[in-house]
Amino acid sequence: MDKYMIDGGRRLCGSVRVQSAKNSVLPLFAASILTDKRVTIRETPAISDVFCMAQILRELGADVTFRGEDVTIDSSNACCHEISSSLTKELRSSVFMLGSLLTRFHRARIAYPGGCDIGLRPIDLHLNALKRLGVNITERDGFILCECERLRGAEIPLDFPSVGATENILLAAVKAEGTTVLSGAAKEPEIVDLQNFLNAMGAKVSGAGTDEIIVEGVKELGGVNYKPMKDRIEAGTFLIACAVCGGEVEVVGVKNQHIGLLLHKLRENGCKIHTKNDRIRIESSGRLRCNRRIETMPFPGFPTDLQAQMTALNCTCEGGAIVIENLFETRFKYVPELQKMGADIEVQGRTAFVRGVKELHGASVVAGDLRGGAALVLAALGAKGVSEVIDLSHIDRGYSDLQKKLKTLGAEIKRVRV
Ligand code: UD1
Repeated sequence: MDKYMIDGGRRLCGSVRVQSAKNSVLPLFAASILTDKRVTIRETPAISDVFCMAQILRELGADVTFRGEDVTIDSSNACCHEISSSLTKELRSSVFMLGSLLTRFHRARIAYPGGCDIGLRPIDLHLNALKRLGVNITERDGFILCECERLRGAEIPLDFPSVGATENILLAAVKAEGTTVLSGAAKEPEIVDLQNFLNAMGAKVSGAGTDEIIVEGVKELGGVNYKPMKDRIEAGTFLIACAVCGGEVEVVGVKNQHIGLLLHKLRENGCKIHTKNDRIRIESSGRLRCNRRIETMPFPGFPTDLQAQMTALNCTCEGGAIVIENLFETRFKYVPELQKMGADIEVQGRTAFVRGVKELHGASVVAGDLRGGAALVLAALGAKGVSEVIDLSHIDRGYSDLQKKLKTLGAEIKRVRV
């Protein structure tokens, strides 16, 4: 097990290039087996979720070749429709495999998916939608077996704009007979990226980015060479890191419309933000002000994946902040760790009340989930003294070279094997 040793209190200065979006690349990997032609996904981030997804594709019989950051998937020999529980339990995105396996083989058997322990995360919306497309589903011994003779386009209203369910429905509908009309769809930019990828393969998908997506089933899908969108959550994490530590940082590559609300919140804190094309520059100096209220919502609302990092920022701002988590039930599990560093936070159900303290102090903390872990790193970067952030396995799922990138910005951070 690895840990970070962080000597806090250094200002951050410099420029950082954003990786491709984890939450885009993972569904694209799943989409790659929709065709038996060669698929290349360029500039993939070196994160463990990507390696795990590659392993899932290999288990299905696909050849997955990494050439630097470019990954080529050739699934012409894939014949297996089953994913072992050890891999699905490690990665929630394995649930997307249901949609693509059904399109490719009309059959899929997968264990219930895992991922970060941040709430119940049921998959009822995914399964109900698949049923409407003509899929029979049986659940036994922790496995889900999906089968159909053919997939038929349908009208699918979603009760909640689930990102994963929206993506899974696209993957199951691309080659279905007839037209699928999905209403109440999630509007996240990663869904637009999936639409663009599928259309580049020859699919007919329109409306992504709005709450109604229309998929006209096509007979064939071809290969594709695709560069995914950049990671708005990684970009946001670096911007918040600069807000926490003070300094001047330029984040390169991300579309500022993808993190509009974060930029607004950071300005509310007292940071100066300048945007130009795909560059966002942040300046932070002196003690910042707390945000009065941060409430997570589906896109274009405030992203739940930046909630923990913003809470860490507010810990040392002036005043008090209310943070409301609407998406996942237990996404405040990192709070006791921040308290070890001197944070004054009270959690009541889905709401955290933060009272800003002058500074945090170094402590030994455990990263229990991906974004909560990132929040601890940010808190440690801003804290007085040395902190250790233990267990980097979750952080490694979503951030490539986090330590290297922070070091380039001037942070004092070492990765150590425990
Ligand atoms: C995706 C992102 C994750 C992000 C989340 C919300 C990926 C790989 N992960 O996760 O980083 O935090 O969107 O923006 O893209 N729900 C149900 N039934 C379902 C599906 C979801 O009740 O069948 C609930 C979930 O429990 C949760 C809420 O809907 O409370 C949001 O989940 P969803 O949008 O599906 O998130 P994920 O796709 O899992």
